Amino acid sequence: MRLAEFILINMEQILQGWEDFARNIQPSNRSMDVLELRDHAREILEEIASELATPDGERKLDPQGNTPAEIHADTRALSGFTVDQLLSEFRALRASVLNLWSRREKTATWFEVEDMSRFNAVLDRALAESVARYTEAQRQSQDIFLGVIGHDLRTPLSAINIGATYLMRSEEADAKLIQLGSRMFNSAVRMQEIIDNLLDFVRSRSGAGIPLHRGDVDLGVISDQIVEEFRASNPGAVIRAQVGGDVRGHWDGARIGQVYQNLIGNAIQYGSHTPVSVLTRATDGEVVLSVHNEGTPIPPAMLKNMFDPMRRGMSVSAPLSNRKNLGLGLYIVREIVTAHNGSIEVSSTEVTGTMFTVRLPKRAA
Ligand SMILES: Nc1ncnc2c1ncn2[C@@H]1O[C@H](COP(=O)(O)OP(=O)(O)O)[C@@H](O)[C@H]1O
Ligand SMILES: [Mg+2]
Repeated sequence: MRLAEFILINMEQILQGWEDFARNIQPSNRSMDVLELRDHAREILEEIASELATPDGERKLDPQGNTPAEIHADTRALSGFTVDQLLSEFRALRASVLNLWSRREKTATWFEVEDMSRFNAVLDRALAESVARYTEAQRQSQDIFLGVIGHDLRTPLSAINIGATYLMRSEEADAKLIQLGSRMFNSAVRMQEIIDNLLDFVRSRSGAGIPLHRGDVDLGVISDQIVEEFRASNPGAVIRAQVGGDVRGHWDGARIGQVYQNLIGNAIQYGSHTPVSVLTRATDGEVVLSVHNEGTPIPPAMLKNMFDPMRRGMSVSAPLSNRKNLGLGLYIVREIVTAHNGSIEVSSTEVTGTMFTVRLPKRAA
């Protein structure tokens, strides 16, 4: 008998063996009923059997285009399974089929090995589908969680902001209170930035991308304004800004402002007090913005995935508690730049220093 037929004929026994095995590997704090344990195992097995019988046949998908292994993963993610538990279930399914198959009356034939290895291959594919789906579901619920937190923090934060502003500008308050108010205000602004970054991150990861509101923008104006702000809040920093040519274009001004903000902020923060140069110049149909600093170069291994989320430099000199940021800045910068059909690159060496270069087409394609 071929394995496909064997699976279908012995379905009940296989499912029973699987269930016993699965019960044993479940952590003791979770007791599940039989139906929950078996829920999609039968469908996964049926699909495997049909694939073994007709390897080139069409896959059976539900109306939304999901495979049984994906549906199984969705259910497991919802009922709070860990990925280890999901993996164990597949291990159990494999063991259950192969145990029974090896105990059957033997008529050792040429197809035995072939059937077994194909069974393993098809089961592994189901496993991979399940894990991919599970991870995706997990990620989505994390994003929803982050989105809700970020959103809900805005209201209490704006109350803190108003209070701090009041204190800072108060005419009755003495110098100490005014200083306290201004420190609170700066912290609230930082918190606001972190929350905004978090919300942008969640939005861009959900596939929605960064929404753009394009208008006529002069990068010279934006560059001046942001550089002035940085000079005011970092009196020790040397920031050289230069604008060349006609740097007007059709962009989302607030978003491009965020690009300047992040790149200059990083250069000040990580450039170990070396001068920072901000260059904005027009070339054919595009504007090139570069931000340069000296100081310790970024290690080559880190340069490769500089723009991935939550890659912060593991600088030994900065203890965890001193790190104010989430490591989302460059990720969001790249999202904004690509939303504008632009590009960003970085180079960093001991001799030339660290330079981020952004290219922005003046108009939308
Ligand atoms: N101009 C720079 N010079 C040196 N290192 C930098 C520079 N810009 C960014 N980095 C490194 O890249 C990491 C990620 O930057 P970013 O995405 O802005 O996140 P964050 O600033 O929140 O850590 C930083 O933690 C830092 O280690
Ligand atoms: Mg940063």
